[in-house]
This record gives sequence, structure tokens and C-alpha cells, in this order.
Amino acid sequence: MAVFLPSWTGSSLALAASLPQQLNVERRINMFSNENALERRNVWNPEITQPNRRTLWNRNTTATISWNTSTIPKGASEQKGKVVLGWLNPNLGGGEHLNIEHPLAHGFYLREGHVQIIVPQVAPRDDYIIVLFGDSGNASPNFSIV
Ligand SMILES: *[C@@H]1O[C@H](CO)[C@@H](O)[C@H](O)[C@H]1NC(C)=O
Ligand SMILES: *[C@@H]1O[C@H](CO)[C@@H](O)[C@H](O)[C@H]1NC(C)=O
Ligand SMILES: *[C@@H]1O[C@H](CO)[C@@H](O)[C@H](O)[C@H]1NC(C)=O
Repeated sequence: MAVFLPSWTGSSLALAASLPQQLNVERRINMFSNENALERRNVWNPEITQPNRRTLWNRNTTATISWNTSTIPKGASEQKGKVVLGWLNPNLGGGEHLNIEHPLAHGFYLREGHVQIIVPQVAPRDDYIIVLFGDSGNASPNFSIV
């Protein structure tokens, strides 16, 4: 069987090796956010509005990631976020293949509702997702990078 892997496979494989495949996004998010356990009083799951199912990103161009800030809790206004790229493929054993080691962006305020990134030079796929981490995390619908 031909296995199709993105060009950042190095870190993706390292991650895959260190995490059991059955871990779902929620578990990984919880593991990740334990680092910020003291700041977890206002758990907020912003809805990602961009990218969405119709989104096509071109590699090495700027793209905007947006989320809905209308439900941001008081006290979360100084919280900073991080976005990471992952991909889904149930036929390759599931998992989200999140590239946690190379976030697309980090250190921005969640209250801003959007962040600009440069689309990395990854393999074209139509099942990419991004996960936005704050004190919790949320995944986008799957979208394409061409
Ligand atoms: C990415 O885009 C920048 C700016 O347009 C360009 O200078 C650079 O050569 C491009 N890199 C690749 C690998 O295409
Ligand atoms: C943001 O969320 C609010 C509350 O759920 C909703 O009323 C509004 O339509 C959403 N806006 C967008 C752009 O999705
Ligand atoms: C990605 O989204 C499309 C459109 O909703 C859906 O048909 C497809 O099954 C999804 N792919 C994966 C791998 O989840």
C-alpha cells in the first residue's frame, strides 16, 4: 500500500511514535493544555470560522485563520493562542497527525479573533485540519492545501 505523507513527516512520525494512534483530538488537547493547568478556569472553545470545508490554501502564501469571539468569557481576554496543522485519514489508522512541534502561529491573543499565517510547504491533501489551542482547543472542519 502506498502511504502518502506530508513533507513535515519527520516530526509527524516522531509524534506518531510517541503517541498511541487511538488518542483523539480531545485527549491530545487535554495533555497539551495541562501545561497551563493554572489558567484553566475559563475553558472556552472558540468556533473556527476559517478555514472551513470550502477553503483552499496555496502553499507559501498568506492565509487567515478566524474564530468566533462573541462567546469569549471575561477573564480570557489576555489569553494567548496557538494554531497547529494536522490531517485526517481514517484509512491510515485515524488520528489527527497534529504538528505540535511546528505551530503555524503562536503568542497571539485569542480575543483578536484571527491570525495570519504562511501556508507551509506540505504535501497537497484535502483532509487538513487546524487546531486552535487556548486553555482548551477546537478543530476546524477539514480543508485543502494545494
Ligand atoms: C515563498 O514566497 C516568497 C515570497 O513570495 C518567495 O520569496 C520564496 O521564494 C517562496 N518560497 C518557495 C519555497 O516557494
Ligand atoms: C458567533 O457565535 C454567535 C453565538 O453563538 C452566533 O450568534 C454568531 O452567528 C456567530 N458568528 C459567526 C460569524 O459564526
Ligand atoms: C472532509 O470533509 C469532506 C466534506 O465534508 C468529507 O466528505 C470528507 O469525508 C472529510 N474527510 C475526512 C478525512 O474527514
